[in-house]
Parts: sequence; C-alpha cells; structure tokens
Amino acid sequence: MAIWLKLLLLSGALLSGLLYYVTDHHGSGKKTNMKKPNFIIILADDIGWGDFGVNMPGKSHTPHLDLMAQEGMRFTDFHSPASTCSPSRAAILTGRHGLRNGVTHNFAVGSIGGLPLNETTLAEVLHGAGYYTAMIGKWHLGHHGPYHPSHRGFDYYFGIPYSNDMGCTDSPGFDLPSCPPCDRDLQIHREEHSGCYSKVALPLFENLSIVEQPLNLWTLAEQYTHTAIRIIRNSRRRSQPFLLYVALSHMHVPLSPAVPPDPGDPGLAYAASLKEMDSLVGAIKSASDDNDKDNTLIWFTGDNGPWNQKCQFSGSVGPFLGRWQTDRGGSSDKRTTWEGGHRMPTVAYWPGKIPANTTSRALLSGLDIFPTVLSLAGAKAPLHRHYDGLDVTDVLLRGSETGHKSLLHPNSGAAGQFGDLQTLRLGHYKAFYITGGAEACGGGTGKQEVHDPPLIFDLNHDEEESTPLDSSSEEYQAVLEQVQEEREAVLRDIANDHVSWADYTVDPSFAPCCNPSHVTCRCRDGG
Ligand SMILES: *[C@@H]1O[C@H](CO)[C@@H](O)[C@H](O)[C@H]1NC(C)=O
Ligand SMILES: *[C@@H]1O[C@H](CO)[C@@H](O)[C@H](O)[C@H]1NC(C)=O
Ligand SMILES: *[C@@H]1O[C@H](CO)[C@@H](O)[C@H](O)[C@H]1NC(C)=O
Repeated sequence: MAIWLKLLLLSGALLSGLLYYVTDHHGSGKKTNMKKPNFIIILADDIGWGDFGVNMPGKSHTPHLDLMAQEGMRFTDFHSPASTCSPSRAAILTGRHGLRNGVTHNFAVGSIGGLPLNETTLAEVLHGAGYYTAMIGKWHLGHHGPYHPSHRGFDYYFGIPYSNDMGCTDSPGFDLPSCPPCDRDLQIHREEHSGCYSKVALPLFENLSIVEQPLNLWTLAEQYTHTAIRIIRNSRRRSQPFLLYVALSHMHVPLSPAVPPDPGDPGLAYAASLKEMDSLVGAIKSASDDNDKDNTLIWFTGDNGPWNQKCQFSGSVGPFLGRWQTDRGGSSDKRTTWEGGHRMPTVAYWPGKIPANTTSRALLSGLDIFPTVLSLAGAKAPLHRHYDGLDVTDVLLRGSETGHKSLLHPNSGAAGQFGDLQTLRLGHYKAFYITGGAEACGGGTGKQEVHDPPLIFDLNHDEEESTPLDSSSEEYQAVLEQVQEEREAVLRDIANDHVSWADYTVDPSFAPCCNPSHVTCRCRDGG
C-alpha cells in the first residue's frame, strides 16, 4: 500500500475516533471534551481468590493476569455480589442485589423467564449512550424470547446461554462424576446419568441463532479469543466506543483445555485450564493495547468461588478457608457466604489512568461495576430504583481507599429458602445470621444453622473465619449494634424500593433446540 494511502486511512481512523465525546456539563457548565472510554469486563466462572498468581506466593499459572496487576490495580477485598451464577451476573449487570432485581437463584435449561424485563442492564444503558455493545460467553439470565442477551442491550452475542455443564457434548471434558457424550441416535435415549444434564446438547449462539449444537468445548476458548479480537479490532471501523462483556466458561467444569494435561494425571486439568484462561485474557489485553490502549478499561473478576464438590477440578480459595464451617462439615466455597464463596481475584487495568502496580484493600463488589462504568461513560443510571453498587471511580483513578461501609452477602445455594440476608460485612468484621456449608469434595454438607445473635468474625485477625468473637466481649457488643443498624437500614431500603420479580417456571419445551426431531436437539443428523 502506498504511504500516502496509509496516512490517509490513518488520519481517517483518527478523525472518526474524534467523533465521539463525552460532553460534560459539570458545575460551571463549561464543556470539556473527553473521548468516551471503551470497557472490557471479563468475568471468570467459579474461580478462586488463590488461583490468581499474584495473590499467592509460589508457582503462578496466571502470568498474563499477574502482569496486568503490575501494570494496573489489584484488589484484595473485592467480592462477587452472590455465591452462585445467575444472581451474581444479574447483580453485576444491574448494580442491584437479587432482593431488588428478582434474580435470587439459577435459571435452568428450560426456564421460561430470566432477568426481569423492567430491570435495566449495563448494556442497555451504554447502548443508549452511543456505545457498541458486545457479549461473549455465559449469559445465564434467561434465553427464551425477550430474555435473550440480544434483547437485553447487546448488539452482538456469541456464547453459551448458561453453564457449560448444562448440556451434553460429543467429547465431554473433565468433570466429577464424568458425564457421557450426547446420544447419537435419532430416537434412542440413553439413561440419564446422575449429576449430568444430558437431554439437550449444549448450544452455541451467535446473536439469536444457534450455530452449533452440541458445541465443541475443546475449541471454545479459541473461538472466544478470535471473536474478542475481532470485536476489538473492528472498533476502529465502527468509530463508536464499545462495551465488551466476556463471561468465560473457565473455570467451571467440565474443564476442556485445548492443550490437554497428561492423561495419566487428570489432576493437572485445572492448572491447564487456568493457564488457558490466562492466555485468553492476555490475548484480549494485547488486542486492546494495539487498538486503543490509553482509552480502554479492562476489569477482570469472577462470579463466585470454586466449586469444592468437584475436588481436583476446583480452584483455590487461598487463605480464606472458612474453618468454622469446614470443621463442622461441608464446603465453605461456592454457594456459601464464607469468604471462599465470594472473595474474588480482581484486577483493573487502564494505562495512564489507573496507577500501575498498585493494590487496593478497599471493600468493593461486582455491584460497583455498573455505577462506575456509567460514571466513566458519562451515562445516567435509570431512575426510580435504588442501587447497591457504588461509583468507585476515585478508588480506580485517584487513590481513594473508600469502599463500602457495609456489604450484604446473599446466598442462594442449598440455603436459598432462608432468604438472602445471611451475612453482612461491616468494615473488617463479618456477621453471620445463618451458616451452612455447600456439598464438599467427597460428600458432606454442613447443616444450616441460624444464629441469633449472629456469629461475628474479625477478618483482620482471622481471615480463615475460624473463631468468632466472644459474644460477651465489649468488642462484640459494639460491633453487633452497628451490624443490626446496617442490616435494618438495608431491609428498610429494599422494602421501599421498586422490587422486580423473576419467573422461574421451567418448561422443557423452552430449551434451546436446533433440531427438535433429534433426541438431543443436535443440529445435523446424528451419525
Ligand atoms: C450477528 O449480528 C452482527 C451485527 O452485530 C452481524 O454482523 C452478524 O452477521 C450476526 N450473526 C448472525 C449469525 O446472525
Ligand atoms: C511493583 O511493586 C513492588 C512492591 O510493591 C515492587 O517490588 C516491584 O518491583 C514493582 N514492579 C514494577 C514493575 O514496578
Ligand atoms: C417491575 O415491575 C414490577 C411489576 O409491575 C414492579 O413491582 C417493580 O417495581 C418493577 N421494577 C422496577 C425496577 O421498576
């Protein structure tokens, strides 16, 4: 290509880049022209705080994330809004807890409903503010009709509408118990295997169309990587700022790393998968750096802690062992409100904006992504509802350590029927009104116990949550009073809020199905 043509194209790209601005009318009414930033939100599934190399001494499987932390900000006290998939994702995308947005437990393959339609997603707001909005990966907020991501603010969608274990594939990944491949015969239906969803093959969607069913899990990371890079590169042509929400299947079982571990040692599958996830994140970062480095915020976090029940195929909670619970049986990871259930490995990266190589100990949550991103985009949050998230721009950009004074940790695992107000964090204290474990590796669940007055742990001195404060101590009494006040304030606030209701009705005929005449919905005839 001739030099002049390159220059012309380059200046064209620059010019089109100048076409989008935030017009800021703050205070004086003086206009400041600032290009709207791009946002890449990466959400890992079932990841542990201790999976992140820089959080732990010793061997790291996450060199790219470690580098991102060195070039950005690492968070040590950042929490997923819930300890299971759908509630956590709904809260991240709305800035509101499940008690407000209606999503208090997981949706199923045959769910009729999803995230209530009068809840507004981050993508809907940014789309309205002139953003191109794309999503890759796991949605898990309803996929039927108007609940599909293509109708919830995303211009583009490529991914699995729910978890990667919610359907069979032809070449199953590592799981416990291990699940059989999909039925090949058109009519004959094999017995259901316990613990496996085998009726409907796992679908891969592009926008509203199923493009593969069953999808190939082993090449999914590669497909996601290519798609993400394409979306980022094409942003120059679009000359619109963009939101890219990447909700990975990693580290949820079945694990299916493209470079499989030694078959003699399936215990290495987790590490292989973690490395694959890390490379995927690295590829996204590198594409973004080549594209619009100084104008793109990348925020990596997770939806909930490791799935302990899956033994060698689950991640590490690091020092957050939840010993009070594990001593009594059951796991203190995913599906619990112990730290292992929701303390997330988290990093934010924005060259030139977020100070490099910094660590924030502020008490933050995935709930904060919604208000913070809107604030950075100069977009307004929908009115007539209350939010649980905070705008933490000052933490990201200006060294503030001010996070949440208190933070609610809802649960929706085995304990779902007890409602969502199980645990409340206040500063470095944490109060449990209800304790309970999830199913642990090898079996066993800690039974549900109600505590009135609550158990209170001091995380500064007891990150393992092993020994609660003595309830007759002055310290306990002083903390208890504040905890009760905060809890009542939240309850009052929710009682006065617009609270939405999700339809959890399940009808198997609503499952995504490429070819209803095939027993597993397989797209092409089974061979
Ligand atoms: C999905 O939508 C995008 C527009 O954002 C379009 O370019 C692409 O072709 C669509 N894919 C399918 C399979 O419909
Ligand atoms: C990051 O900070 C740590 C100390 O907090 C220091 O040892 C390290 O060299 C720094 N890395 C870079 C790349 O500046
Ligand atoms: C959504 O609609 C329901 C039913 O009309 C209502 O109770 C709820 O307050 C609405 N939610 C919001 C956020 O407005």
